[in-house]
Order: sequence, then C-alpha cells, then structure tokens
Amino acid sequence: APTRDLEGMRIAISAGGTREPIDPVRFLGNRSSGAHGVALATRAAARGADVTLVGANLQVAAPAGVRLVEVSTTAELRDAMLLASRDAHATIMAAAVADYRVADVSDAKRKKDAWGANPTLQLVENPDILAELSMRAPRGVVVGFAAETEPDADARRAIAQAKLARKGCDLLVLNQVGMQLGFGDVDTAVEILAPSGVVATAAGAKMSVADAILDSVRSTLQEHA
Ligand code: C5P
Repeated sequence: APTRDLEGMRIAISAGGTREPIDPVRFLGNRSSGAHGVALATRAAARGADVTLVGANLQVAAPAGVRLVEVSTTAELRDAMLLASRDAHATIMAAAVADYRVADVSDAKRKKDAWGANPTLQLVENPDILAELSMRAPRGVVVGFAAETEPDADARRAIAQAKLARKGCDLLVLNQVGMQLGFGDVDTAVEILAPSGVVATAAGAKMSVADAILDSVRSTLQEHA
C-alpha cells in the first residue's frame, strides 16, 4: 500500500474484549486479545489516518500515534465509540463485545455461602453497538467483524452475509475461530464481505491483513463519495 494514503481520514476503531462485572473482583469475559484491532490502528496511523482506538482490556500494547481510550464494559465501549465515530470517515468494530451483562452487579464480593451449591446468574441483553452505529445518519463507512466457528466455508460465508444484512454495516470481516485458531494468533485469514458479496480475501500476518481491510475501507469510502 502507498505510504500516507489515509491522510485526512478520521477512523474510530474498537479492539479487545469487553468484561461484564459480577461483583468487584469477578467478571464475564472472552478470549479476545485485541490484536486485530490494534493491528488496524497501527497500520491506519502509519498510513496517515487520525485514529481513535477504543481499547477494551487489551492484552497487546497499543501503538504510538493514536488516541487511546481505555474501557472495560460494553456500556463504556458503546459510549466511547458513539463519541469517537461521530465525525469519523470510518468506524471499525473489531472488539469482541459481550452479548449479555449481569443483571444485578453486587457492590460487595459475593461469598460462597451466599451463592449456595448451584447458583445461577441472571443476565440481560446488551445493545448491539455495531447495529446502532450502522443506523446513524449521516455516517461514514461502518465495518463489523464476524468470528465464526462453522467449519464449512460456504455455510460460514452465508452466516456472515446474513449478519452483515442484519447489522446494516458496509463491510464485514469474516474469520474462522476455534479454541486455537484466531484468538491471539499471529497469522490469520479473512474474507471481506460487502452487501454484494465477497470483495476481498487476505491471509498472513495480522499487519498485512489489516492493510487489506483498510484498502477495502478506502475503496468503499471512494464509492460512497
Ligand atoms: O453478532 P456478533 O457478535 O457475531 O457480531 C460481531 C460484530 O458485532 C463485531 O463487529 C462486534 O464488535 C459487534 N457487536 C457489537 N455489539 C454487540 C455484539 C457485537 O457491536 N453487542
């Protein structure tokens, strides 16, 4: 990719995984390290973009030269992304967002004798931030991620295409994940989907995959202009 081809472009990127507190010391979380989103932020900044990185519990270091907003819960990530994406040309939701949060978060550490032998946690649905960002008008290019465990490539693509339509985003980055593949790995393979179908594929190091995603974002922006 040409060096400073994203100069003048404002990009909001979420990365990492949200945590939903149970009590002051416990949470529900996921295995997302934030590597994908951090790679996107790194490459976008290197290519001259003005980057706001909303990082949820990042396990990898954020790059220099980006505006880092640190969050933990889904509610915090939502607030930060609504703000960061307001005047952004592109919004990329690379974070793994918890679909549910704990209904009544305890102020004090919950004790085993109070939990009993077979405790249940009451959960409530979180807002879908990607869908919400996609509904706003006017808006820039909105990009979602889909980490699917479906092993069949065609079935996986169909799931992702339906997800893109349901969420209303412009691009959806599809990658296959399992317990070993995808989370925290150095290498990755993705398909980039638009409403019209697959527009690009990329495989290799996360930085080069990030460049391919940013290329698709740039082309989509040019089509919209
Ligand atoms: O539906 P699913 O969780 O697979 O969708 C993944 C995409 O939606 C990711 O881009 C993720 O950041 C976003 N998402 C969101 N809010 C949620 C759940 C997922 O923005 N509550």
